[in-house]
Amino acid sequence: MENFNFYSPTFFAFGKNRESDCGDLVKRFGGSKVLIHYGGGSVVRSGLLDRVKASLDKSEIAYVELGGVKPNPRSGLVYEGIKLCKEENVDFVLAVGGGSTIDSSKAIAAGVLYDGDFWDFYQGKLITEALPVGTILTIAAAGSEGSPDSVITNEDGMIKRGATGDAIRPKFSILNPELTETLPAYQTACGITDIIAHLYERYLTNTKDVEVTDRLIEGLILTMKTEGPKVMKNLQDYEARANIMWAGMVAHNNIVGVGRSQDWTSHDIEHELSALYDCAHGAGLAVTMPAVFTYNMSHDVMRFAQIAVRVWGCEMDEEHPEKTAMKGIEALRSFLISIGMPKNFAELGAKEEDIEKLAYTCCYGKGNGSGKVGGFVSLMQKDVEAIYRLML
Ligand code: NZQ
Ligand code: ZN
Repeated sequence: MENFNFYSPTFFAFGKNRESDCGDLVKRFGGSKVLIHYGGGSVVRSGLLDRVKASLDKSEIAYVELGGVKPNPRSGLVYEGIKLCKEENVDFVLAVGGGSTIDSSKAIAAGVLYDGDFWDFYQGKLITEALPVGTILTIAAAGSEGSPDSVITNEDGMIKRGATGDAIRPKFSILNPELTETLPAYQTACGITDIIAHLYERYLTNTKDVEVTDRLIEGLILTMKTEGPKVMKNLQDYEARANIMWAGMVAHNNIVGVGRSQDWTSHDIEHELSALYDCAHGAGLAVTMPAVFTYNMSHDVMRFAQIAVRVWGCEMDEEHPEKTAMKGIEALRSFLISIGMPKNFAELGAKEEDIEKLAYTCCYGKGNGSGKVGGFVSLMQKDVEAIYRLML
């Protein structure tokens, strides 16, 4: 196991009706004037926004609001939010919604205290200072409620990039599984897929003897394997939603990723798809993961065989472990299709003629332009192109 630091100081308030605590929590973490940031309207329709305002009123916290965050959140609204916060002397950003709203809130929080262009952070500059952020989560998926990360799409070129820094880790996150019960089946499945992807990205490691984190990851994927179908069958299954919601947080606050190298190839390759075609991140991952894993399998057959046996219930073929490894990848693919995820480029709305461009942007479109992708296997543009072709 490698040396590591793990410091994850987010206060989690989990369970029914916990959104009514948000006024107290904002106060506890030093806020006196809040920007309430939200998405395309689901929180208005569900009445959540009104309940949030009532809680802030009760705690005598002033607020301004900015809605309109789109899935795959855009830079334009971030600039608007930064301007609004400066004009209104906002000292706390409260995200009410999903990963997109949380990420947009984090970008605004960092941008308000930065003299330059907030996009610098999405070109590799570490975020060391930001307004405090709190979240009220409405979809179990991205894990942004417990992560130090934010992903934004720059409308200038539709480039989707991530930024990081402990300063944008939420001060508190309210997780009420009931709030996720209004999610349509497709979005629910996208969330389940994203959570599984966060676990695989950490499972695919070159660090040896990391049994504790291997076992934690396997346990979480097994949980998604049992709870996922339950919630797809009954979208109002509170207990299944509760298990998935907490799994989503644990999968991505990095407690299961410490002390080991990580991969993130599937995310890098997927981000090009959701940037160009505006598909849901989870749907893009459902198509991307099996292709990446098939391409990379020979790098460490036993790692893929291990997860095939321990999670997907495959029998170990001692003579041909590559067959076991492949069965595990196929089992993952079948599971994702069974919950309603797309299986190829066409179902995602992606186009074969864009492959060269997608691979180029993936490898060279980043701030550092390193030309390489992946922590598990170092991939070049030609490899990334081959992976996109496996998705056809
Ligand atoms: O905008 P509204 O009207 O709220 O509708 C949203 C949106 O259309 C809807 N929704 C959310 N909660 C709902 C609901 N509809 C009904 N009832 C509810 N309770 O769901 C749609 C998707 O929302 P979004 O916030 O985009 O989903 P998600 O949480 O999956 O976030 C995806 C974004 O997170 C990024 C992705 O790249 C993508 O941009 N990621 C962020 C990460 C991070 N910050 O750590 C890591 C992830 O790997 C990921 O890359
Ligand atoms: Zn993700």
